[in-house]
Order: sequence, then structure tokens, then C-alpha cells
Amino acid sequence: MTANFASGTIWTGDNLAVLRGMNDACVDLIYLDPPFNSNRTYEAPIGSKAAGAAFKDTWTLDDVDVYEHGEMADRNPAAYAIIEAARQAYGKSMQSYLIFMAVRLLEMRRILKPTGSIYLHCDDTAGHYLKLLMDGIFGGHQFRNAITWRRAVSHNDPNRYGRISDYLLFYTRSEKWRWNVVRDNLDDEQVEKAYPRTDERGRYRSDNLTGPMHGKGAGESAQAWNGYDVASRNRVWSAPKKGGYADYIEEHWIPGYKAIHGVHARLDALNTAKLIVHPTKGFWPSLKRYADADQGKPMQDIIFTPTGLTNYSGAERTGYPTQKPLALLERIIKASSNRGDLVLDPFCGCATTLVAADRLQRNWAGIDLSPLAIKLVDERIAEERGLWGGATALTEPPKRTDLGELPNYRTHRHRLYGKQEGVCVGCETHFPFRVMEVDHILPRVKGGTDHPENLQLLCSGCNRSKGGRTMAEWRAAQ
Ligand SMILES: C[S@@+](CC[C@H](N)C(=O)[O-])C[C@H]1O[C@@H](n2cnc3c(N)ncnc32)[C@H](O)[C@@H]1O
Repeated sequence: MTANFASGTIWTGDNLAVLRGMNDACVDLIYLDPPFNSNRTYEAPIGSKAAGAAFKDTWTLDDVDVYEHGEMADRNPAAYAIIEAARQAYGKSMQSYLIFMAVRLLEMRRILKPTGSIYLHCDDTAGHYLKLLMDGIFGGHQFRNAITWRRAVSHNDPNRYGRISDYLLFYTRSEKWRWNVVRDNLDDEQVEKAYPRTDERGRYRSDNLTGPMHGKGAGESAQAWNGYDVASRNRVWSAPKKGGYADYIEEHWIPGYKAIHGVHARLDALNTAKLIVHPTKGFWPSLKRYADADQGKPMQDIIFTPTGLTNYSGAERTGYPTQKPLALLERIIKASSNRGDLVLDPFCGCATTLVAADRLQRNWAGIDLSPLAIKLVDERIAEERGLWGGATALTEPPKRTDLGELPNYRTHRHRLYGKQEGVCVGCETHFPFRVMEVDHILPRVKGGTDHPENLQLLCSGCNRSKGGRTMAEWRAAQ
């Protein structure tokens, strides 16, 4: 499905209305970093780029449309039950928070493409309840990883272990999701440890040029080379022939290296290129393996961003409360999207996701209650790109264009009368056809559409009484 908004759009306002206005299945990747229910109020320091930004992360039932919990009973009974369990186990603040999250997550699932992925950033305050909620909404079998991100090196938390981790719950929309292997480069300290020697080409370590004999005694690999008789110690020669380091050697130092036939010829070529260290003592020469050729390891489910949260480079730090590092977002975006894909951050804050997506040539859009998001994204992308026309700033939610030319909703009266067997959904009483009226289950003022799935028949009495309210609001008022 095509998106009904342009890449580079940022909405200032509540993301629920904006999400409800987006077309089905039009987004490739959603990263969301919502408030965590941390019972704190966050503010940016005066004088920082983000001064004036603040958000409250304390939840009571006054903060949410409690009737939405009732609606969940119809729309997603599993989510309803999980929220109810959280109220019993933890209390009303968790209930309120999860209601807020559930209605939004339902929309996010709807707008994700079948190949799409979603990462929900949270911490241990609500993370375990959110895992259940995500299972309820996306399906437990769509869960891929709970990624730990180490956000600080240490934290002093009296009388308990220092809390230095956040979690990212990674789910996909279906069994066929985008996936690219991303490798973690070594940091300086790791390079120094793993590659202790240095020459004019850079840091390197000595690597073995021999392998176990295993019955290969008759071939060239067991013959002495350059006076070194490895077979006398039950070894054979082994110079890289394929794989990452052979590619690197060919690309950087020995053109045509991989096509060289015979292990002695390859050893000669390596020797001429000064890639072999000859022993001053000991038995055999060894291969120089350079740090620059090290592609790192495929990403694991614990992510260490290079410097941790407390230590961003000055340029990256905006002062926005709860800002996340670009290095974290870049990894997620590289792993779960391709160039030209659409990335959405519905709680975009100081727009870290959008800056990272822009750097990686993805399309992007963001939403935040705070008007600072648009200011900061413009500043940050302008710093990166130089020439930048600015993001499109909107406050009006988009209007869905994927519903086609829907017929007037009243034309569904006959069909609904048949489907409901003449019974009003409100008072559950049978009525003649002429008394029945078509009602929007989610009222149009709340983003409800004329889509057949959002329509039901009520008798005229119930319809008048319900007015512009949701069913749950109306029922609660009975
Ligand atoms: C944890 S911060 C996000 C920080 C962001 N990842 C970054 O790197 O800057 C949460 C953000 O959610 C926003 N927010 C809270 N409720 C919202 C809502 N209903 N709609 C849109 N944004 C909301 C807050 O203004 C805040 O900027």
C-alpha cells in the first residue's frame, strides 16, 4: 500500500490521531521510544538545543481515555486481559499506561507492511508487561528478540544493582521480514587487545599459516617451503584461499591473489607483499592479519553503543530528555530496512531516528507532542547535509486514501440487517428494518472511517442515545 504522506513529514500532536489517519500496510519499520511509566518528569537543561522540552511520565487513569480499555475487550480480548492482569498485579498507573500503549500499538500493527518490523524501546519498569501486550497484539510467534542496550557504564542505585540497561522488543508483522546482517566494529580498546602489533600498514596480529596434518602428508602443503619443514612437526601449510581475509588481500595488496594456484605460490605472493613475519626464534613464519580487515561480528542481542549514553560527542547531544544515540538507531535501521524504505518514529523526541534514517537514505516520518521535534530535526539534518529544504511540519492528521471510493455508509443497512439478524447491537432487541440506523463503531470524530468493518446497526433509540461516543463510553454511562 502507498503511504498517504510524504517522506520528511513531522506531525506535532498526539500520535493516535495521526496513526489512525495513515493507510494500511505502508510503513517498513517502526521504532518507538515512548514514555516508560518511569514516574518522573523529564526536562531539557536550559541553554541546550532542546531547552523547553519536557514530558511527564507519571500515569493515572485521568491521562487516558479509560473507555478505550473497554473497547479493547471487543478489538483485542488478549490485550484486554493483559491490561486487567497488570492492574491487579501492579496497580492503576500500569493499567493507564498500558491502555495508552495498546490503542497505539494496534494502529502501528495495521500500518506495518507484511515485511515490516517494529522495535519497542522500554526499560524494566514496564518492559515485561509490554512484552505480554506485544504478544497479544502482534502474536507471540512474531517476537524475534528482546535486545538489551547498555545505556551507561555504571549507575548508583542504592540497595540494588545499578540499572544500566534498556530493552528493545523486536517484533515483525509476519514470518517474512526484512533482515540484513549488520556487523559490530571493534572499538579502539578491543582493537588494541586483539591486534597488539603495529607496522606501516596499521595494527595486526600474527596468525597461523599451518594446520593439522590429518592424512594430508603427500601433497604440496606438506612440502617444506623456504626451508621450513612443517611436516616434521605433523603440520601442513595453510594460506588463506577464500573468505573475508583472502578477499581483503586481493583487494588491497595482491591483485589476482585468489586465483593463484598452489599453496607454495600463495605463500610466495604473501611473502613478496610483506604479509609474512619470519621468526627470529620459534619454528615457522606467520601471517600478518590486520585490524582494518576485521569486519566485526554479526550483531548480538546485547548492544553496546561505542561510548554509552553519558558520553555522546558534543555534536550529537541536544539536551533533549531521554535522547538516544544515533549509533543505536543506525544499527536497527540497517538491520531491518533497505535504502528507500519508510521508517516511522511515532514518539520522535529530538528526532534521532529520523536523522539516522536520513543518513542511511531511508524515507522517514515522525510524530511528537512537542513542537521541538520539528525544530531539532531541521537543525540536525541541516548540520549533516548542508543543503536541506526542511521537514514538512503538520498538525492535521493525514486522511486515509486506501479505503477507495467508499459508498455512502448508509448503503450498508441491508447487509448489516442480515448480518445482525435484525438485532440492535446496543439493546440486543429485535427491530423491524425501518427502525434501524447505521452507526460508526469508532466515531468519525475520533478517526473512525466509513469502512464496512467500522459499521454496525443500532435501533434509532440507541443511536440517538450513543451520539458521538464510542460504545464503551456509552455503555459506561448507562
Ligand atoms: C522517551 S522520549 C523519545 C526520545 C527520542 N527517542 C530521542 O532520541 O529523542 C518520548 C517522547 O514521546 C513524546 N510523546 C509522549 N506522548 C506522546 C503522544 N501521545 N504522541 C506523540 N508524542 C508523544 C514526548 O514528547 C517525548 O518527546
